[in-house]
Amino acid sequence: MEHYFSENPNTKSERKKIKYTIENKTFEFITDNGVFSKGKVDSGTDLMLKTFIKDKKFKKKEKMNVLDIGCGYGTVSVILKSFYPFLHMTLSDVNERALKLSEENLKNHNIKGYEIIKSSVFDNISGNFDIILSNPPIRAGKEIIFSIYEGAYEHLNLNGEFYCVIRTKHGAKSTQKKMEQIFGNCETEKIDGGYRVYKSIKKIK
Ligand SMILES: C[S@@+](CC[C@H](N)C(=O)[O-])C[C@H]1O[C@@H](n2cnc3c(N)ncnc32)[C@H](O)[C@@H]1O
Repeated sequence: MEHYFSENPNTKSERKKIKYTIENKTFEFITDNGVFSKGKVDSGTDLMLKTFIKDKKFKKKEKMNVLDIGCGYGTVSVILKSFYPFLHMTLSDVNERALKLSEENLKNHNIKGYEIIKSSVFDNISGNFDIILSNPPIRAGKEIIFSIYEGAYEHLNLNGEFYCVIRTKHGAKSTQKKMEQIFGNCETEKIDGGYRVYKSIKKIK
């Protein structure tokens, strides 16, 4: 059976445009078969973005490296770059169709200052980041999602932040426990619509 996290989705391409509004701004994304949440921006992703935008008060033009791990068709990066153009985004995914769509969506929004890497988890990611965001691929299994959390800790700078959104019913508690175990802290930033947004900070242990 083919999943949205196949490396090379074989399902016939059926591209379409979807609209997404956040903070009174409307964005258009190209999506396709074989990628996550092709019909509309996922409600979990929407909650994580809204929480992040409310939370984050950047000092103007702060140079920060941000990783959008498991980027899908690029929603998180397009939105963050539109609100905070000074961020440098790195996008990664295993799904090649998703990566191509991400690039197209970034270009269609005239976004500059990003890098796209094909990688399973952190296999091909070498840099360190100030912020990492994930709507993890639950269907890929616990081993994969836990290695995203572990890799996030390894690849964050000191005081760097890891944001994660997960459906309450899809193992939110075990994610919270794992993040606490790895980082020594995990705050519940938001609970809404059956999702939880967690944040862990890399501190000196
Ligand atoms: C829940 S989706 C989130 C997509 C996108 N960030 C969004 O919010 O719409 C999880 C993403 O993780 C990707 N993924 C699955 N397994 C992965 C792995 N081993 N390493 C990196 N990404 C993976 C999937 O292809 C998918 O795009």
